[in-house]
Amino acid sequence: MASAIEKPGQHRTVLLDEAVDALVTRADGIYVDGTFGRGGHSRAVLARLAPAARLIAFDKDPQAIEVARQIADPRLDVVHGSFAQLRDVLAARGGVRVSGVLLDLGVSSPQIDDPARGFSFRHDGPLDMRMDPTRGESAAQWLAHVDERELIEVIRDYGEERFAVQIAKAIVARRAESGRLGPLVRTRELAEIVARAVKTREKGQDPATRTFQAIRIHINQELAELPVVLETALESLEQGGRLVVISFHSLEDRIVKRFLQSRARAPAMDRRLPIRAADLPSPPLRILGRVFAGEAEVAANPRARSAVMRIAERVLA
Ligand SMILES: C[S@@+](CC[C@H](N)C(=O)[O-])C[C@H]1O[C@@H](n2cnc3c(N)ncnc32)[C@H](O)[C@@H]1O
Repeated sequence: MASAIEKPGQHRTVLLDEAVDALVTRADGIYVDGTFGRGGHSRAVLARLAPAARLIAFDKDPQAIEVARQIADPRLDVVHGSFAQLRDVLAARGGVRVSGVLLDLGVSSPQIDDPARGFSFRHDGPLDMRMDPTRGESAAQWLAHVDERELIEVIRDYGEERFAVQIAKAIVARRAESGRLGPLVRTRELAEIVARAVKTREKGQDPATRTFQAIRIHINQELAELPVVLETALESLEQGGRLVVISFHSLEDRIVKRFLQSRARAPAMDRRLPIRAADLPSPPLRILGRVFAGEAEVAANPRARSAVMRIAERVLA
């Protein structure tokens, strides 16, 4: 499937065929791509759909939306906003039921590779990290006022970083020097502060990796918006409709896994009550599986190494 190493500025779609195969069960359905990116999945979904079908594609990123709007296909309905708005967006379209919802979580390669977006500790750039730079606070704005306790929690919980306390203290100490040094507004300086605070190095990993991941997750509310869209996706799916979610780190995969397991499990039965198991409501979801990228894909696209795709099907109407 993948034949060349990813180039900067391009996004090499992960699990392309596997995701589209899992998602599309009928050619005339209404589908949702919650994370358009550069449209790798969306284009492949459209290629499988009939003329009367629809694909509603979301992205927070104005650059992704610009790419989406260049696709001249009347079946594509582009929404600039968070997938957490799915309920309102479907309500505005007559409360339609959908045949599938796809989420390919996290950031895209063009976001990471563009120093001006501030996601990367490898290139110097403004400390922004917003998927949607037209809204909300940038990382620099947040770091300028966040209190030390909250900073420790974010770095520890979203970065799973052992040196969260030391890193947060170093950032707060740097902030106290703003009068002399100016505010902390560049990715390179943040990466250097983190590197000095991290005492033991993980093999093959930049010391700033975990802290940058943590701040990015916080700034974009990534783990807060995920449960919202999962809940709405489930309630919006028609019978037989599919939920397909690709995660890139254990924190988001854990949320997806627990959600699917909780909705695929039969409710606990109180044996003292005169109720037969057959009379209890069935769980709304059935888990269909979990897929990882194969060796060839991982060799061509290192991002695919950490990808896990979970697939579930709505059982009840
Ligand atoms: C991994 S990329 C998706 C790549 C896409 N599947 C493709 O093949 O080109 C993730 C994209 O989702 C967007 N995104 C992440 N969280 C989002 C959210 N809560 N709402 C809308 N878009 C989001 C990001 O801005 C990014 O463009």
